[in-house]
Amino acid sequence: MSSTLGKKLDFYVLKVGGIVVVILLLTTGIGLYLFLYPKEVTDVGYAPKQPIAYSHKLHAGDLQISCFYCHGNAEKLAAATIPPTQVCMNCHLVVQRENPEVKKIIDSYTQNKPIEWVRVHKLPDYVHFKHNVHIKAGISCFDCHGKIYEMEVVRQEKPLSMGWCLDCHRKETPLTKSPRVEDFFEKAVQDKHLYEKFKNNMKQYKGIHWVEEHERIGCSLDCSACHY
Ligand code: HEC
Ligand code: HEC
Ligand code: HEC
Ligand code: HEC
Ligand code: HEC
Repeated sequence: MSSTLGKKLDFYVLKVGGIVVVILLLTTGIGLYLFLYPKEVTDVGYAPKQPIAYSHKLHAGDLQISCFYCHGNAEKLAAATIPPTQVCMNCHLVVQRENPEVKKIIDSYTQNKPIEWVRVHKLPDYVHFKHNVHIKAGISCFDCHGKIYEMEVVRQEKPLSMGWCLDCHRKETPLTKSPRVEDFFEKAVQDKHLYEKFKNNMKQYKGIHWVEEHERIGCSLDCSACHY
């Protein structure tokens, strides 16, 4: 049935159609990349190799050392900060001295050279984030960092994008009383098995108010709260 003209037309339609499809794919591809990349995809899953094979799973999970033992500044300061070598030496002065990874800690200590940990979570300089505000409001580390106590190597779990900050700031969070350590774990540890372990070990912490009573200042949506 088909004439030469018909075939030519089919070919023409195919060719033009093909080009249009390719252009559409390219533009949506580039568009999506530009739209999503800087906000949603940035660095989720980022887990750089650290100079010492320090494991949160071992120390915070199995040994149940509190996050605040090493990152206590999170309660008081903008930055949670990485503990200095001295904190590791509290135990490693005696524990596993022959382990080659632990030797690196002892070297750092005796040579007075800080360990050069690689930063995992990093906001751009034009954004201001304060840990203390969030910790005092009773937000758990795990809401923003995932299950750190299960990680051999720290991995970024959340996008840390503006949309991510605002999603939580828009929520009504009924945080009225200052949490205690046991509330913190009850709320934070979704893993039932781990919670039971913590709960049974909770007596030593019982009643400690790890944050002061404080007044809610509110979750701001104002540009100037985060950009100034
Ligand atoms: C014995 C000390 C110690 C304890 C306990 C500890 N940490 Fe850490 N933490 C470190 C060290 C050292 C690093 C830097 C090396 C690394 O990233 O693994 C770190 C890194 C981190 C980072 C990544 C920092 C960055 O560069 O962005 C987060 C988040 C973090 N810890 C959260 C926690 C949480 C949550 C807990 C409790 C479940 C916890 N830590 C318990 C020592 C500790
Ligand atoms: C509301 C979200 C949120 C909560 C809650 C939170 N963090 Fe963070 N954390 C962040 C963000 C965002 C960054 C990156 C900050 C930056 O680059 O200025 C960060 C960075 C860090 C860092 C590396 C930089 C620094 O500040 O020293 C550590 C360590 C850390 N967090 C530990 C913790 C611990 C431990 C807790 C719980 C006690 C916690 N964080 C609770 C969002 C959070
Ligand atoms: C409260 C005590 C305590 C503190 C503080 C502590 N550790 Fe440990 N760490 C231990 C114990 C206990 C072990 C041994 C666990 C075992 O034998 O199974 C260990 C083991 C290790 C190991 C060897 C792991 C392995 O699989 O061989 C490394 C590396 C290590 N710690 C690094 C660190 C670093 C870095 C710091 C400081 C940021 C630190 N530790 C702080 C108690 C501690
Ligand atoms: C899981 C929830 C949650 C996330 C995620 C979160 N915030 Fe907040 N933020 C809060 C709450 C709750 C408060 C209010 C604290 C209070 O009322 O005491 C707050 C307060 C603040 C304030 C103080 C408000 C003011 O007016 O001074 C700033 C600034 C802020 N957050 C910045 C950030 C930034 C930047 C991010 C993202 C990197 C972020 N927050 C992510 C829950 C969150
Ligand atoms: C709760 C904290 C918060 C508030 C409120 C906030 N921002 Fe942001 N903003 C951020 C964070 C975090 C980033 C960094 C995002 C990233 O790294 O991808 C950002 C990035 C940006 C950027 C860089 C472009 C981009 O999307 O990467 C612009 C522009 C910006 N914000 C404008 C605003 C304006 C305008 C307002 C007020 C309507 C505002 N922000 C309110 C947290 C906030």
